[in-house]
Amino acid sequence: MNSKSWRYTAEDLPQLSPFGSVLADRIAISRFEDGGWKSGGLIPMNDFRLHPGAHCLHYGSSCFEGLKAYRWDDDSIALFRPDRHIQRMQQSAAVLRLPIPDRDELMEMLVATVMDAMADIPPAPGTLYLRPILLGTDTNIGAAARPSESAVLYVMASPVGDYFAAGDRALRLLIQESARTTSQFGKVKTGANYASALGITLDARDKWGTDQILFCPDSDVQETGASNFVLIDDKTIITKPLCDSFLHGVTRDSVLQIGRDLGYEIQEKDFCVDDLLKWTQHGEAALSGTAAVLAGVGTMIHNEKEYTLSGGETGPNTQRLRKALVSVQRGTEANGHGWIKKLT
Ligand code: COI
Repeated sequence: MNSKSWRYTAEDLPQLSPFGSVLADRIAISRFEDGGWKSGGLIPMNDFRLHPGAHCLHYGSSCFEGLKAYRWDDDSIALFRPDRHIQRMQQSAAVLRLPIPDRDELMEMLVATVMDAMADIPPAPGTLYLRPILLGTDTNIGAAARPSESAVLYVMASPVGDYFAAGDRALRLLIQESARTTSQFGKVKTGANYASALGITLDARDKWGTDQILFCPDSDVQETGASNFVLIDDKTIITKPLCDSFLHGVTRDSVLQIGRDLGYEIQEKDFCVDDLLKWTQHGEAALSGTAAVLAGVGTMIHNEKEYTLSGGETGPNTQRLRKALVSVQRGTEANGHGWIKKLT
């Protein structure tokens, strides 16, 4: 512990890398059995048990969320848009035919997890990343075509710094004209989508030194493996309109609203790879997500050719929007949209 009552200082953030590898000791847990949720309170992570025949392990009945708690400069603690993350988890659970988490109970679990891990919340620029996850737990290894009627929901906490190993370096993307996942799973936050993007992302990293793939099936510019994708210039923010084929990012929504507040014109419209390549001649691009925040893109590779954006750096409008977003998350700016839930 440092002289204050928490474990980490800003200098300790490199120890928290890679993102998500340091975990708080306890989880908040609830089980859905016999038609209802039963809270199990907070338990040591090592006491968590899952049957080897659990539905989630065999048939992929699982979905998760990612949101953050922030230690503000006055040492108070705040969650950013927990209600939107709960809604999205309920939407994911419905598509997977899993028991739907109860809104109020999940909110209580989030709060309990943060309060329990209070000493682990790093100061800026670190955060406490929260990972609610819902798993189908029926033990019937033949139930491929049946939903799991039982489930476990728990919340993990992880003190984190930057998600991308690149830190502040602008990212390299490979433009790939294939889909990240299937159209019926695109808006579901499920592990299968990340598994589907993994191999191809690693192959591209080996060949091109890229950080992420930008998935553009039939030339439709959609999203990367771990984040949504936006184009930005001095006046405009452009991104794909919401549809079932990609994740409905809470950060995407927040950046669009903050952009609107700052006077940018918001265009939610489809665009193709040719439009994107033309855009690289004058505009900026960025990845948005809870983990990514708003990360600038410096290079895109398409058909073995490299396209540089903003001189290979994070562009000034991306920096401006990121700063505005982080200021709201950290409470140094208020924006009146009711996005902050203060816990202390
Ligand atoms: C998030 O941004 O919260 C995510 O779930 C991305 C994940 C790859 C860390």
